[in-house]
Amino acid sequence: MGPHALVYYNHPSMNVTVRSFAKINLGLWIGAPREDGFHELLTVYQTIGLHDVIRVRVERGSGIEIRCDDPRVPRDESNTCFRIVERALKSLRTKGRIVVDIEKRLPVQGGLGGASANAVATLLALERASRKSLPFAEKLRIAAEVGSDLPLFLVGGTVLGLGRGERVFPLPDFPATPCVVVTPEVGVSTAKAFADWDRVRGKLTPQPASDRINELGRELSARLGEAYKRQFYSGAPLRRGRAENPLLDLVRTGIQNDFESVVFPEYPDLREGKRALERAGAKYASLSGSGSTLYGLFVSRKAAVTAVARLRKQGWAAQVTSTVARQAYWRRIFVG
Ligand code: C5P
Repeated sequence: MGPHALVYYNHPSMNVTVRSFAKINLGLWIGAPREDGFHELLTVYQTIGLHDVIRVRVERGSGIEIRCDDPRVPRDESNTCFRIVERALKSLRTKGRIVVDIEKRLPVQGGLGGASANAVATLLALERASRKSLPFAEKLRIAAEVGSDLPLFLVGGTVLGLGRGERVFPLPDFPATPCVVVTPEVGVSTAKAFADWDRVRGKLTPQPASDRINELGRELSARLGEAYKRQFYSGAPLRRGRAENPLLDLVRTGIQNDFESVVFPEYPDLREGKRALERAGAKYASLSGSGSTLYGLFVSRKAAVTAVARLRKQGWAAQVTSTVARQAYWRRIFVG
């Protein structure tokens, strides 16, 4: 028995706690439907400070147990945490009973990647709890198998998403930017939103979806290039203040989320929520993923806090947070 096994034997029920940070999408463009039923897409993911908390324990025995107080979270094999544990146990060649506790704070079906982040947090916690680790490429593979929005959480910060969203590329971080998140009560099905997109788009425009994504890709790379050029190559240090935040420069150039055009007509309240964020001073407001969460980016924490007070008075469930850059993401992810 090696030293690791000995430690494990002495602490059979070590608990590992992980913050499962949410994401927003800074623009999301939908391309061609693929033969496998997924759509090509192009998006910039950005992790934010709102998070669930995941606790993982490896006990003697076998089986996977998912615990969560929120009745909307499935506890069977359809849960993303269950699905990633199944796969990770095989790759890690670990045995035991795995207990995953999900403390739900993020909205369910909210477009913040909550279930996806929970699964990645579970994978990281399981590695630590079993005192083994998988190569990064293997983690990416397992994550992508469970869902398109998982791999980004293995990178954190500002992340370019291609393919069906699962091909992820770390982008240089933008400075932490104050963000207000509005969480309407409705949950939006991502699969249905994609289906609605196909229905509506098929009627509306003659341009082939793959041409469109190529064109938008060129546009996005130009905008990102500009934003990062100002951040890194201007020679002048980044000053605090409105025109100086390259993230705000980027989003204000008119990047958009294609889902808005199918989700807003179905849920007019969400369009209202976006307008309310703009009226409350957001420099940019958008639906995140397929929604229903809306977010707004602000020039200062003070402006964001003021906006939250105003939005709450109008009856919106709003909270203030901030974007989380890559280094901060990894520094804060393990609790304790
Ligand atoms: O990968 P994920 O499980 O998040 O996808 C949920 C559903 O959303 C898929 O089954 C598919 O119908 C749709 N989807 C899509 N194109 C993507 C991502 C998801 O059509 N790029």
